Formats: sequence, structure tokens, C-alpha cells
Amino acid sequence: MSRIALLCAFVSAAALAGPPAKVDQALLDKGKSAFSVNCAACHGEKGDGTGPAAAALNPKPRNFTTEPFKQGDSPDAVFKTLSTGVTGTPMVAFAHLPEDDRWALAHWVLELRKGGKPAPAAAEKPKAKK
Ligand code: HEC
Repeated sequence: MSRIALLCAFVSAAALAGPPAKVDQALLDKGKSAFSVNCAACHGEKGDGTGPAAAALNPKPRNFTTEPFKQGDSPDAVFKTLSTGVTGTPMVAFAHLPEDDRWALAHWVLELRKGGKPAPAAAEKPKAKK
């Protein structure tokens, strides 16, 4: 009984929230403007870690376009970073932003990543093993 109640709660929460059904220009635009407002002061408009506040930070925000992500660079991982922050760094949690804004931001961060060098994942194609 309680398991069923839990399952129902889980399913209904998943129906209300969760990753966007599709990543389209509207989602990226939303992410871009939220990034300007909430993130660019530290991360820079292009995500290269050169925002006006960056010089004073320790540790400094990394360059999203060239450096590997410590917290993972899938949409889910970036969403989690935004929701929980990075403990012990100036990267605080942005859990106060609506969940759909956080998804839009996560996708925009990964878009910025593509703006630089090809993401390492593309370079690290596993060599043919056979
Ligand atoms: C007060 C400055 C500041 C603000 C504002 C800020 N960040 Fe950060 N962020 C940092 C710092 C510093 C780090 C690096 C932490 C570390 O060294 O692990 C970081 C780390 C991150 C990471 C993890 C990168 C990795 O290595 O995995 C992501 C993703 C990120 N920020 C996205 C954002 C987004 C999106 C916003 C806006 C909603 C934002 N940040 C706002 C300072 C900031």
C-alpha cells in the first residue's frame, strides 16, 4: 500500500517536472537570458570564465568552452550542479530558480561548451576494439 502511494507520488511528480521534452531554440533563448542575469557575472557571457567577478573568486569558474567539467557535462549533471551548487566554492545552489529555468540553463551551458573546441567526448571516441 505505502509502496503504491510512493510510486504514485513519484509518477505524478515526474509528470509535473523533469527534463524538457525537446531542446529547441526557445529553450536555448530562455537559458541564454537566464545565464546573462544569474551567471555571467562570474562565468562570463560566453561561459569562458571571464565575468567581471571572476578575478576575485577562489576557486575561479572554469572555462566551459575548453576545460573539462568536474561535476559532469550531461544535461542531468549540469541540472544537478545548478540545483545543489558546488560545496566549498563560490558556486552556490540555484534551487530558487524555477526548475524549467534550471533545465534551460543546463542546456545553454552545454551549448556554450559547443561554442569552443569540440567537446572532449567527441575527441575521445573509443578506438575500434575488435
Ligand atoms: C558567484 C559566482 C558564480 C555565479 C553567480 C555562478 N557560478 Fe557557476 N561556478 C562558479 C565557480 C567559482 C565554479 C567552480 C567551482 C569549482 O571549482 O568546482 C562554478 C562552477 C559551475 C559549474 C560546474 C562546472 C564543472 O566543473 O562541472 C557549472 C555547470 C556552473 N558553475 C554553472 C553556473 C550557472 C548556470 C550559473 C547561473 C545560474 C552559475 N554557475 C552562477 C561561480 C559562479
